[in-house]
Amino acid sequence: MRNTILVAGSANLDFVVRAEHVPAPGETVLGRDFSTFPGGKGANQAVACARAGGAATQMLLALGNDAFAAPLEISLREAGVALHIVRAASLPTGTAFVCLSDSAENAITVAPGANEALRAEHLPALTDIACLLLQLETPITTVAAYAAAARAAGVKVVLNAAPARDLPATLLAHLDVLIVNEGELAAIVGPCASIAQALERLDVPCVIVTLGARGVCARSHGHYHWQCAYPVAAVDTTGAGDTFCGAFTAALCAGLALPQALARASAAGALACTRLGAQASIPTAAEVEAFLARHADSADAADARRQLAAYCGIPIDPTAT
Ligand code: RIB
Repeated sequence: MRNTILVAGSANLDFVVRAEHVPAPGETVLGRDFSTFPGGKGANQAVACARAGGAATQMLLALGNDAFAAPLEISLREAGVALHIVRAASLPTGTAFVCLSDSAENAITVAPGANEALRAEHLPALTDIACLLLQLETPITTVAAYAAAARAAGVKVVLNAAPARDLPATLLAHLDVLIVNEGELAAIVGPCASIAQALERLDVPCVIVTLGARGVCARSHGHYHWQCAYPVAAVDTTGAGDTFCGAFTAALCAGLALPQALARASAAGALACTRLGAQASIPTAAEVEAFLARHADSADAADARRQLAAYCGIPIDPTAT
């Protein structure tokens, strides 16, 4: 029986400076402390899958032959991720430059380096793979080739279309699940009157839009589902979306129904916002369980759900709870 998740994508060493605010174009801001953290959307999502438990996690990634590669390998291995490493000797390991504000906002610039070296022929055998999780920090032709190979092998394909860009129709045609934020959704479908209208334009079985502090909205096989965000005191949102994607994919692979998978992934993403760093902030399954137990449905949940549905433009019965 297939029971493994394969994440194929980027790994970056994150160089993080905390500052009062994120600089505007042309502005210089005097920051405070500086730290490095293992990051990269692919590697963050692999760690999130592994910490969520339920399925073995593998990752296909490309690293340079330099000192930045070691902390990335260590973080992934310590999380229990089995690695397929492409060594791109002539390229530096990927890096990301993160400015983190006191209000937990960030601005990130990525220097992809070795991530650009991932090619179609690097995909390992998919024999044990149940789910393939992809992002867009590696070449789009490679991502599309991996999705096509996985579809042909009967593997579920989940794409987190981040960072934002237009997607080729051939890639969209091979997806089972597409996860985007509002900006990424707009980059794919163009301007729309509402989130619901944008979701209806996409011919993918399940599309999930993450809406930050509002929550998430999904359209699966023509039906809407939505989950309000869990309130937390955010200190760093870097990697929160990746945590959502990894935890969601692990839940999907474990056979959870969509509403439960959305709740679990939202809780994991919320917890990730309460700690510094990308991979360093990703919670374990036990932490997510305890968080969910503390945040069982509250009295105002129905009202919050109605507000989220209205924001997304989802028609609902106003008397429903
Ligand atoms: O999604 C957060 C990630 O984006 C960071 O870890 C950074 O490396 C960039 O890839």
